[in-house]
Amino acid sequence: MLRSHIAGIGSYVPERVVTNDELAQLMDTSDEWIQERTGIKTRHYGKKHKETSTTMGARAAEIAISRAGISKDDIDFIIFATLSPDYYFPGCGVLLQRELGITNTECGALDIRNQCSGFVYGLSIADQFIKTGMYKNILLVGAEMHSMGLDYSTEGRNVTVIFGDGAGAVVIQPTEDENKGVLCTKLHSNGTYAEKLAFINPGAHGGYHLDKMGESVDFGYGNDEFGGIFVTQHMVTHRQLFPYMDGQFVFKMAVVKFPEVIKEALDSVGLSQSDINMFIPHQANLRISAFVQHKLGLGDHQVWNNIQRIGNTTAASVPIALCEAVEAGAVKPGDLVCLAAFGSGFTWASALIRW
Ligand code: COA
Repeated sequence: MLRSHIAGIGSYVPERVVTNDELAQLMDTSDEWIQERTGIKTRHYGKKHKETSTTMGARAAEIAISRAGISKDDIDFIIFATLSPDYYFPGCGVLLQRELGITNTECGALDIRNQCSGFVYGLSIADQFIKTGMYKNILLVGAEMHSMGLDYSTEGRNVTVIFGDGAGAVVIQPTEDENKGVLCTKLHSNGTYAEKLAFINPGAHGGYHLDKMGESVDFGYGNDEFGGIFVTQHMVTHRQLFPYMDGQFVFKMAVVKFPEVIKEALDSVGLSQSDINMFIPHQANLRISAFVQHKLGLGDHQVWNNIQRIGNTTAASVPIALCEAVEAGAVKPGDLVCLAAFGSGFTWASALIRW
C-alpha cells in the first residue's frame, strides 16, 4: 500500500524582527504583559511592497523542493493554506506557481482556508491524493503576511501582539516503505463559533450572519439594492476591517480540542502518547502548548516551540516549527511525530507521521 511521506521541507521568516517594546510604542501594551500571557518575545514582519504570503511561500517551497531532490516542474499539485492571501481571488496557489516559474500546466493548484489548522488539513488532502496514486509530488505551503492586516491601535492589541509573518513548505511523495510516512490524519470543525475568531470584512455577508445571531452591527450598507456592499466607507471609517478574537473563549476550546484530537489519532493506529517522540503544536500561545505538553506527559525536548521568537504564524506555524525541529536534528528517522492545530472556524486537526 502506498503511503505519503515528507520528502523535503523548508521554511522562511522575513528579516525584520519586531519586539514587544516596538508594539508598545503604538498601543497600550507591554513586553511583560505579552510575554506573560502568550510567551511571545518577538515576531517577524514581511517587507511591504516586496513580500507577500506568495513570495514567502515560494522561498520556503524552493528549499523544500531542493531538499526533495526534484525539480520544480516535477510538482504535479500545489496546495496553499493561508488566511492572508495576496488577492481576494485568484488564490495564492496559482500565484505561487507563477512565482516559482512552474510552467507545467498539468499541475493543479488548490487554495484552502482553514486558518491555523490549514497545514494539517492540507497534509490530509495531499495524503488522500498520494494514496490513490493521483499525484506524485505535491507541494504543500502554509504562509501568512499577517502584518498587512492588523490593527496597530490599542483596540486591536489582543490580536495584533500575537501574530507574525512567515512560511513553511513540504514536498509530499508516495513511498512503499512501511516504516515511514503519514500514519493518519484527523480533521474536525464546528461552525457554531465562526465569529469568535474571524476577519469578516471585507466580505459578501451583507450583515447576514450577525443579524441572525441577533447582533445588529451597522456596516454602512444603506438602503441601496445594488453594489458597494463588499467594502463600505463606513467599514473604513469605523475601523471594522480588522480581525476579531474572543481570546478567552478560543483558549478554553483549544485546551480541550488539542488533547482530544491527538488521542483520537493515537487510538486509531493503536499507539499511545508515550510513543510520541516529537510533538509539533500549532504555535497559538505558549500557555496552550505547555498545557497540552503536560496533558501528554511529554518532556521539554519532545515539544517544539518557537512562538517566543516568531509569534503565531497561523497556517505557517506547524511547517515552520517542523522544519526547525528537523534542521536541529530533533526529529530522526523512525521517530513518531505528532502535529496538531486548532483555530478559527473552529477547525482542528492532527496528524501522526513516522519520520
Ligand atoms: N496588552 C495589554 N493588555 C491587553 C492586551 C495587550 N496586548 N490584550 C488584551 N489586554 C487586556 C484586555 O483589554 C483586558 O483588560 P480589561 O480587564 O481592562 O478589560 C485584560 O487584558 C484581560 O484580557 P483577556 O482577553 O481576558 O486576557 P487573557 O488573559 O485571556 O489574554 C490572550 C488574552 C489573547 C493572550 C489569550 O486569551 C489567548 O492567548 N487566547 C488564545 C488566543 C489564541 O491562541 N489565538 C490563536 C488561535 S489560533
